[in-house]
Amino acid sequence: MTMVAPQAPHVAQLSYQGKTIDLPVYFGTDGPGVLDLQGLYRETGLFTFDPGFTSTASCRSEITYIDGDKGILLYRGYPIQQLAEKSDFMEVAYLLLYGELPTSSQKGEFVQSVHKHTLVHEQISAFYRGFRRDAHPMAIMVGVVGALSSFYHDSLDIHDTAQRQIAALRLIAKMPTLAGMAYKYSIGQPFVYPQSHLSYAENMLNMLFSTPTAPYDINPVWAKAIDRILILHADHEQNASTSTIRLAGSSGANPFACIAAGIAALWGPAHGGANEAVLGMLTEIGHVGRIPEFIKRAKDKEDPFRLMGFGHRVYKNYDPRAFVLRETCHEIMGESGMKDNPTLQLAMELERVALADDYFIEKKLYPNVDFYSGIIFRAMGIPVSMFTVLFAIARTVGWISQWKEMMADPMQKIGRPRQLYVGQGYRDFIPMEKRLEEKT
Ligand code: SDX
Repeated sequence: MTMVAPQAPHVAQLSYQGKTIDLPVYFGTDGPGVLDLQGLYRETGLFTFDPGFTSTASCRSEITYIDGDKGILLYRGYPIQQLAEKSDFMEVAYLLLYGELPTSSQKGEFVQSVHKHTLVHEQISAFYRGFRRDAHPMAIMVGVVGALSSFYHDSLDIHDTAQRQIAALRLIAKMPTLAGMAYKYSIGQPFVYPQSHLSYAENMLNMLFSTPTAPYDINPVWAKAIDRILILHADHEQNASTSTIRLAGSSGANPFACIAAGIAALWGPAHGGANEAVLGMLTEIGHVGRIPEFIKRAKDKEDPFRLMGFGHRVYKNYDPRAFVLRETCHEIMGESGMKDNPTLQLAMELERVALADDYFIEKKLYPNVDFYSGIIFRAMGIPVSMFTVLFAIARTVGWISQWKEMMADPMQKIGRPRQLYVGQGYRDFIPMEKRLEEKT
């Protein structure tokens, strides 16, 4: 992993209290350069202050690159549009994990390795019975994925490259199985085992929808759409959940615990939970006549309502994934005979109105990846509560790729941010008898 050394003219200077220090500036392959502040506290006694890390590069990475102004997303240099159109999820998983597109034999071996690990230990099914039937599947996933670390002791040594590799395969392979079990448990149907003759996306559909009573015909259009959605959601630089994985991993936590932490972070409606929240919002809006009311609320600073599926921390242009998903959405709705589906019609009108509104134009708020994925999942009969679980399945590839990269990075150390303390100054303890009761 190389970083361009500081180029002579690109050394920034900081003057503070009569002292001037040089701060090296590094540039990567593309995108903004970085100001190396590792010596700032030592040289000036100052911390940086950057809530939400809007201007902070937390690490160096070779995996994914986003240009938010141009709406560009590259996985290991390949544009997401080309991968979504020409590749498949197993190829993209290999690419994110190892850095190159696989040859035919490499892909065959990789797919076979994943298939070898799709089963979960039979005892894991007992965990599900501890949950209420109406438990949110993300709550189940946080629990059971973390629990995997108690079953696979031969892939917990984070300093052993081979064990890191097995753990990565196990997590990628087992996520759909655990997700299918969470859904089946919620509807009281028997768990469905993964099948080695099915593709990753076909297995997901089969484990969600097949039953012992009748053959389940996997819709090839749906399988292709699921595969494409998995590609689009696989990785996305240092987003909130990936940063959670890196921070958890920096303490030396095992990979199963790290992925469980990432699932928890993804669950939030401002992040991966947005796809579920989009459907909730569309249901609340109800019909196109109420769109102006909700657009008004989204613009009102006093109102906590935000237009779910719109806006992004990095994209100040159309999310390139949303473009691909928009087409997929129309394809699936057409194939499912739901072209005139009121939810889709409402979503299209909401998008049209928002994109024409000065507030959204001025703040560069465009539909993001979550705006369409929920509508597609719903058209397939996937319950809303499972939307973010499917996002987590896809993102596990990115999470574990980023975790592996971090574990192999010689610069890696435990993450430990500081703070600007604005609390009470030093004061002595007050014995009870001297504490004044609040006058009521
Ligand atoms: C994902 O990081 C990633 O890469 C995430 C993700 C990934 O693949 O990992 O891409 C997946 O999480 C996509 C985002 C899904 N979330 C949503 O759709 C929820 C709705 N979106 C907002 O909550 C919001 O846009 C965020 C959380 C996504 C981004 O929040 P920021 O960084 O605070 O947004 P911003 O700084 O660009 O906001 C600029 C302004 C603010 O108003 P002002 O303070 O300038 O007056 O736009 C406003 C925001 O309040 N704004 C919105 C809005 N999003 C931002 N106003 C109304 N509706 C919205 N959706």
